[in-house]
Amino acid sequence: MFLESLYVARREALREKLRSGLVLMLGNVDAPINFAHNVHPFRQDATFRYFFGVNRPGLAAIVDLESDEDTVFGDDATLDDEIWLGKTPSLASECERAGCRSVRAYAALEDAIDHALRDGRTVHFVPPYRAATTLEIARLLGCAAQDVASRASAALIDAVVALREIKRAEEIAEIESALEIAGEMHRAAMRAARPGAHERDGVARMHEVLTRHGVLEAYQSVFTKRGDILHNFNYDGQLARGDLVVNDSGATSALGYASDITRTLPVGGRFDTRQRELYTLLLEAQDVGIRGSRPGVRYADVHRAAVTHLVEGMTQMGIFKGPVDDVVSSGAYAVCFPHGLGHQLGLDVHDMESYGEDRVGYDAETARSALFGLRSLRMGKPLKRGMVLTVEPGIYFIEALIERWAAEQRHASLIDYAILRRYVGVGGMRVEDEIEITAAGARVMGTPIPKTVSEIEAVMAD
Ligand code: GLY
Ligand code: MN
Ligand code: MN
Repeated sequence: MFLESLYVARREALREKLRSGLVLMLGNVDAPINFAHNVHPFRQDATFRYFFGVNRPGLAAIVDLESDEDTVFGDDATLDDEIWLGKTPSLASECERAGCRSVRAYAALEDAIDHALRDGRTVHFVPPYRAATTLEIARLLGCAAQDVASRASAALIDAVVALREIKRAEEIAEIESALEIAGEMHRAAMRAARPGAHERDGVARMHEVLTRHGVLEAYQSVFTKRGDILHNFNYDGQLARGDLVVNDSGATSALGYASDITRTLPVGGRFDTRQRELYTLLLEAQDVGIRGSRPGVRYADVHRAAVTHLVEGMTQMGIFKGPVDDVVSSGAYAVCFPHGLGHQLGLDVHDMESYGEDRVGYDAETARSALFGLRSLRMGKPLKRGMVLTVEPGIYFIEALIERWAAEQRHASLIDYAILRRYVGVGGMRVEDEIEITAAGARVMGTPIPKTVSEIEAVMAD
């Protein structure tokens, strides 16, 4: 855990922003795979962990906004738990490390909420993303499960987003420690991406790194020669010289912060001429994104600048035609880049998106686009010092999308479909790093992970 004072300060800051009612925070419970005692690796709810730090299942907390009282509700391990799972520290001792000295049995939570409701007090909570949490909130509030989401507190969401989106030095250090592990994972995977190997061999090398560090994946890894399938979680493919592998994977830190790194690897160790040309353009677009990121700039405009660079290069290759601005503004470019430039990252890999993407990535002045491609940009609002974001442009040749658009003659004056079709088979490529927004600009976080053509080829030759 962080120092006690940090958790206390976070709860105080919440009280400053939201002055009446109480905040109900539910931690996660174990998630069964197929029966109660065979569970997924435990991952604590990020909101609970941010304010209370304790990383074990079955907890809840109430932050009373009108008094100084914070209470954690939970139960100590039973003798049975100790027999099967071993000894765990007392809940009181763990809560004390987060500066919370009021700990009650979980069963007391229902009464506490009941009491507050009878007194006409507002019970704020963030929208749940797991069924178990939804049902528990419904039980506590005495409402139907389907009404829980609409009763989530907009004021609480805004207050928590304002706190969590500005990362303090301790959090930056955690993200950088997750990035160290991610760097190890990616280097190991680069060496494993050899002709004849399977995709799962690369994943196995990365899991070995994670296990050695005693941490979890920040999200399910993508390791695929079919980079044109954006979230391809299949690892059965066998690698052949000339394939491009997209490796999008990251670790959590000891305290649960995420990393999210993508590298594109040429199987056989060398990019061919066409791959190199496209990949170099992609790296330049990422650099445009990194250099264009600074406080006050909308991330939607950073996305546009990176896209503009991609389109300039792909116009020279003959894929796009006509004015670059038209290709960008019309959304024609999205035939090759159908997702956004990035998202915030913190305790969640897509930080706070469980509160609603628009509540985190957009604001009253920045509306989300409805255009295909741009509508997938999860973060459009102005950047602030202390934010952490990913910068992750990609170039993809998705046959189904190209053929659909070609059949519809969509953007036919801006896309040369005959030339674009020649690239089907290249697959996809993406590059992704984390940046911290500084006073004057942005800083790529962590120890650099091989990324340029020569750096990647050097590691793969190793
Ligand atoms: N790894 C998920 C993402 O890049 O957004
Ligand atoms: Mn990402
Ligand atoms: Mn990623």
